[in-house]
Amino acid sequence: MRKIVIDATKKGGTINKNIYGHFSEHLGRCIYEGIFVGKDSNIPNVNGMRKDVVDALRHIKVPVLRWPGGCFADEYHWMDGIGPQEGRKTVVNTHWGGVVEDNSFGTHEFMELCAQIGCAPFISGNVGSGTVREMSEWVEYMTFDGVSPMADLRREHGREEPWDVPYFGIGNETWGCGGNMNVEYYAGVYRHYQTYVREYGDKKIAKIACGPNEGDYHWTEVMMTACHCPTGPVGFCNVRMDGLSLHYYTSPGKEAGRGSARTFGRDKYFHTMEVALHMDELVTKHSEIMERFDPDKQVGLIVDEWGTWFDVEEGTNPGFLYQQNTMRDALVAATTLNIFNKHCQRVSMANIAQTVNVLQAVILTQEEEMLLTPTYHVFDMYKGHQDATLLESTVEAETIGTAEYAVPDLHLSTSQSADGSILMTLANLSLDTAQDMNCQVDGQAVHSVSARILTEAVDACNEFHAKDRVRPQAFTDIAVKNGAIQFSIPPCAVMEVKINA
Ligand code: AHR
Repeated sequence: MRKIVIDATKKGGTINKNIYGHFSEHLGRCIYEGIFVGKDSNIPNVNGMRKDVVDALRHIKVPVLRWPGGCFADEYHWMDGIGPQEGRKTVVNTHWGGVVEDNSFGTHEFMELCAQIGCAPFISGNVGSGTVREMSEWVEYMTFDGVSPMADLRREHGREEPWDVPYFGIGNETWGCGGNMNVEYYAGVYRHYQTYVREYGDKKIAKIACGPNEGDYHWTEVMMTACHCPTGPVGFCNVRMDGLSLHYYTSPGKEAGRGSARTFGRDKYFHTMEVALHMDELVTKHSEIMERFDPDKQVGLIVDEWGTWFDVEEGTNPGFLYQQNTMRDALVAATTLNIFNKHCQRVSMANIAQTVNVLQAVILTQEEEMLLTPTYHVFDMYKGHQDATLLESTVEAETIGTAEYAVPDLHLSTSQSADGSILMTLANLSLDTAQDMNCQVDGQAVHSVSARILTEAVDACNEFHAKDRVRPQAFTDIAVKNGAIQFSIPPCAVMEVKINA
């Protein structure tokens, strides 16, 4: 019997709902086909947005959506994507497959999408190939309420009221596709560009700087030194950095060696999980650096790209990054979200890459068909953590894996909602061993418990001819005995356990 202890008296801060955020780029079939089909499509849509996809995203309560990239953002010129459709510029999406980008999905369409989903927009500005003026005018176009050339242009294009843009990214991967800058150079660029991301009236915009690639701790150190000006009696400073981004993908191998998303052996599975769990070390170490400069936690760590990255599905465009999604992906999502929950004092947002048809997508589409991936179901099972209070919880775990790759078998996080109910999300990474669990809750009486489970073979996925192979099921073999919760978690499983006090 393995022991779980939840201490309801030890609160670890609020789990920002934005940790459950998403990222959608003009890449492959994510925006076009996956989300936006146009008003004249036979696929049921509202103002061009797929109804099935929007409904599914509303269901998991997507809190924030990052757009238009990714690498695409640093080649995106927003003025190409406004105004009458027939007048919009056709350009080449040079980064992603060299395909035609007709700009039919632009700022107005993105804002409409966010309104339909009920989420906040997070715009990624162009630093790599754009000017300070272009960025500043985009902000003016979207958020200024008065009379100005950009606000008037927005009205001319049919939108009277300004939008809220609560999050604005100043460049994407400026260490790579966003300009190949070193951090000493980018820190100056950031200070410069952010000056002109104006906040009009009472519109607040969190300015998010491009942060490190994976374990580049020097990047974090320099950005915190050069761009974080603590408010208070230390002096006057006109630079603001509300967030520093971190990108980290789970890939068991690089380039062609990443392996198939759906056909893999035990070794590749444990390799993937080991690489996924490395997120904990990255977040811990970047947070430690940030803490030295910012003990008041004014700067959030924003993991605005994360997820699995495998080889593309056979026969698909290599530039489209289309991959299937199995129980392995569900376990990566479950453990990663547990990690973010536990680091909620510093991690204020995370955005899985990417929402539809790209990398670790929560939704796949095929013309008018849509399916929900195992990763989608994890977001559904974890949505109760959004804005809840982290509780201290521990699980007795043992190390499992292969001679080369080692991971803990059990992984969890726990939170408490405003109504007092407790949500525990637990994953069993073992491929063959069930575990009998005894869960004790300190500081609170347990009255009743209910649970759901996602479990299948590790390479099981949903396909268009079998859309519901992997889906959560009610889990009833769980009971409260002598004040403790007892159940057995099968191998390769994710559980959502709701404890009512
Ligand atoms: O998500 C795919 C790509 O990965 C993004 O465009 C880029 O920012 C990252 O390298």
